[in-house]
Amino acid sequence: MRITRKFVVCSVLVIISVLASTTLIACGGGTTSTTTTNPPTTTTAPPTTSPGAALYKASCAVCHGENRQGVTSGTTVIGPAVLVTSPTITKFTTEASLATFIAGHQTGKNLTADQNTQIAQFLKAP
Ligand code: HEC
Repeated sequence: MRITRKFVVCSVLVIISVLASTTLIACGGGTTSTTTTNPPTTTTAPPTTSPGAALYKASCAVCHGENRQGVTSGTTVIGPAVLVTSPTITKFTTEASLATFIAGHQTGKNLTADQNTQIAQFLKAP
């Protein structure tokens, strides 16, 4: 059989369509089973890169939980875990008043005024 140009073009098209359909089937099957849904993003997620966030994690998280939301109950080896967000945090109407509180509170006493301000900013941030 003489291999004509038309035959080659047709064969290539057939091969492409076969490959395309198998790929589609493979992809179709794959996407349904491997699709991952992103975890819901919370609007109150703390900015993890701010200096205040790092200070909070190092100095306050032991009693108040890993994130700004704190924990509502339970105890730690050091003392009771306390919620440090609203409504508690709203008691301190300004960052400055919160920073002043922190300066006299627990590990905050060991930090500088600037560091306490950074933590206050972090706790007050939306
Ligand atoms: C040793 C455990 C401990 C550490 C460390 C600690 N706290 Fe507290 N925190 C407490 C306890 C217990 C309370 C509740 C009693 C009180 O006000 O002292 C509290 C209360 C608070 C309150 C609420 C105060 C009020 O009057 O409503 C804020 C805000 C707060 N902490 C922030 C911080 C920050 C910021 C840090 C880090 C610099 C920190 N805490 C470190 C144990 C701790």
